Amino acid sequence: MNAPSSAIESVLVENRVFPPSAATVAAARIAGMPAYEALCAEAARDYEGFWARLARDNVRWIEPFTRTLDESSAPFYKWFDDGVLNASANCLDRHIGTPVEHKTAIVFEADDGAVTRVTYRELLARVSQFANALKARGIRKGDRVVIYMPMGVEGVVAMQACARIGATHSVVFGGFSAKALQERIVDAGAVAVITASYQMRGGKELPLKAIVDEGIALGGCESVKTVLVHERTASAWNRVAGRDQTFVEALQDRSTECAPEPVGAEHPLFILYTSGSTGRPKGVQHSTGGYLLWAKLTMDWTFDIRPGDVFWCTADIGWITGHTYVAYGPLAAGATQVIFEGVPTYPNAGRFWQMIERHQVSVFYTAPTAIRSLIKAADSDAAVHPRNWNLSSLRILGSVGEPINPEAWMWYYTHVGGERCPIVDTFWQTETGGHVITPLPGATPLVPGSCTLPLPGIMAAIVDETGHDIPDGAGGMLVIKRPWPSMIRTIWGDPDRFVKSYFPEEMGGTIYLAGDGAVRSAGGPAGSGVDRGYFRITGRIDDVLNVSGHRMGTMEIESALVAKTDLVAEAAVVGRPDDLTGEAICAFVVLKRARPTGEEARQIANELRNWVAKEIGPIAKPKDIRFGDNLPKTRSGKIMRRLLRSIARGEQITQDTSTLENPAILDQLGQTN
Ligand code: PRX
Repeated sequence: MNAPSSAIESVLVENRVFPPSAATVAAARIAGMPAYEALCAEAARDYEGFWARLARDNVRWIEPFTRTLDESSAPFYKWFDDGVLNASANCLDRHIGTPVEHKTAIVFEADDGAVTRVTYRELLARVSQFANALKARGIRKGDRVVIYMPMGVEGVVAMQACARIGATHSVVFGGFSAKALQERIVDAGAVAVITASYQMRGGKELPLKAIVDEGIALGGCESVKTVLVHERTASAWNRVAGRDQTFVEALQDRSTECAPEPVGAEHPLFILYTSGSTGRPKGVQHSTGGYLLWAKLTMDWTFDIRPGDVFWCTADIGWITGHTYVAYGPLAAGATQVIFEGVPTYPNAGRFWQMIERHQVSVFYTAPTAIRSLIKAADSDAAVHPRNWNLSSLRILGSVGEPINPEAWMWYYTHVGGERCPIVDTFWQTETGGHVITPLPGATPLVPGSCTLPLPGIMAAIVDETGHDIPDGAGGMLVIKRPWPSMIRTIWGDPDRFVKSYFPEEMGGTIYLAGDGAVRSAGGPAGSGVDRGYFRITGRIDDVLNVSGHRMGTMEIESALVAKTDLVAEAAVVGRPDDLTGEAICAFVVLKRARPTGEEARQIANELRNWVAKEIGPIAKPKDIRFGDNLPKTRSGKIMRRLLRSIARGEQITQDTSTLENPAILDQLGQTN
């Protein structure tokens, strides 16, 4: 593990504090810090009782649980495990017969601006009908179904329909390549793939079904008996007889009623692949009961969601944010949400602001990368500055996926939120299922760039390699000391890797290691009246990069590069800070031929970028590729990554290079092509 990065210094200097207004506090569900403290005290006093109360109040159980937490096979924790429920019933059926039944569940805005609305009643009918279509194809409880869909109502319907019949879905982001898709289908042993013929992004029609065919053709996907295709556009696509069916065909004559399948609380609701320290993505497995509790509860706590709100989370359903805060949380909370098919810069970089005004969005949740790119666009073109739109419907802003730099925070606060809306900087991960460290809009005084305090019941701490607490003010590793309901249950098919990745023996084997460095201030922000220390995330401590809020393993990209066997002998990938994307991917490559320079180097670098896009997806393309005759290695042959990190940042090498086998290589790698 690498030491937590030096970003600690730069974030510690922030001392602006933004307390919530008296009016915000008065109206909030968790109203003021005393209310937050009371919930924390309840969790400290009776941990299981706290969670049991919340699970009873927030989840609709078909059969109530009698056991709250089972730690007997730690770290394979079980929550509410004798309880029986259905996730889809908790998102849809629960609203029938209430005022939510005829409320708009989804406002869908297509890439071209066309808008469609679906009520809760209609959504229930569509999900039920789709669930019946899945059953008609022989898909049953416990089967795995891969979903490879654009953003739209259909993607959410597909996820909810799987949940309704107890099938475990695994959504693969539509930007992943055929190879990445195939690896996930194989690992999950999927019996079906749900996809679209094409996706529309930024005015362009991009194939999806063709990529599914290409992926399946790579082999090992014999388990896939069904491919369901949503015909998004009128363009033709290739049909495999017997296996492929359009949505229209699959739904024909299917009833719009389907009783939700009762499942145990620990039943795997979904598997979502994410990057880790090794080349192979890990299938993070989530439960039904604990996950759903947290999706619903964090909508209430973090977003303080109310009946009249219009919620918009811009994340794709291919990521965890799109699971918890698009497909499940807003529905469980009975909210109206916006789903957007396109990209923030089409037809211009004012699209988000225009949509907020158009749909009267009150709670807006996006990623720092999007904010940074929209700041840049507004700086160079006044016509796309948010001031051109009426954003007075906004009440709460959220940030997710990567650290938000104080400059971007201030711009978001001032120009989007009109200095009126609290920003919830939500720290969490695919593995945590939902927010774990975040401000509460009606309680927590905000500090730009800090995710502030753990949610009630989340026992976050900062420790050293042996699991011992680190004094406030010093950086260390972020851990969560007690299990919580929405945590990862295992890595699909690889329980050993689950234990090794998240519950290191040196820390005692039962506390969750997040993989991020963090620092907590000594005491609360000056003058805020809060005496608890605030958390700041300082970046990953493993070989995982965060590029535009997308998680990428360095080893994954290295494996992709060396898979180009005709060209590449060796590759090492590191990250370097980037103003726009947070981190940028920098690859150092040794070719099987002489080191190229000039035009040839540029050409080969492009060839390699396109290769990586084909192997993983365009998000994994290295921004910077440098060629060397060799890589900096110790005499025992180990690549010295810390040196590569310095080179990538353009820093003077001040580290000790005496153990280096080939010091001259440093100069060569320092040259850009
Ligand atoms: O490094 C942290 C960063 O994103 C990682 C988790 O990535 P992923 O599993 O893809 O989930 C992203 C959406 C929840 C974390 O380990 N991260 C996420 N949120 C924040 C963050 N870093 C700083 N501040 C955040 N608010």
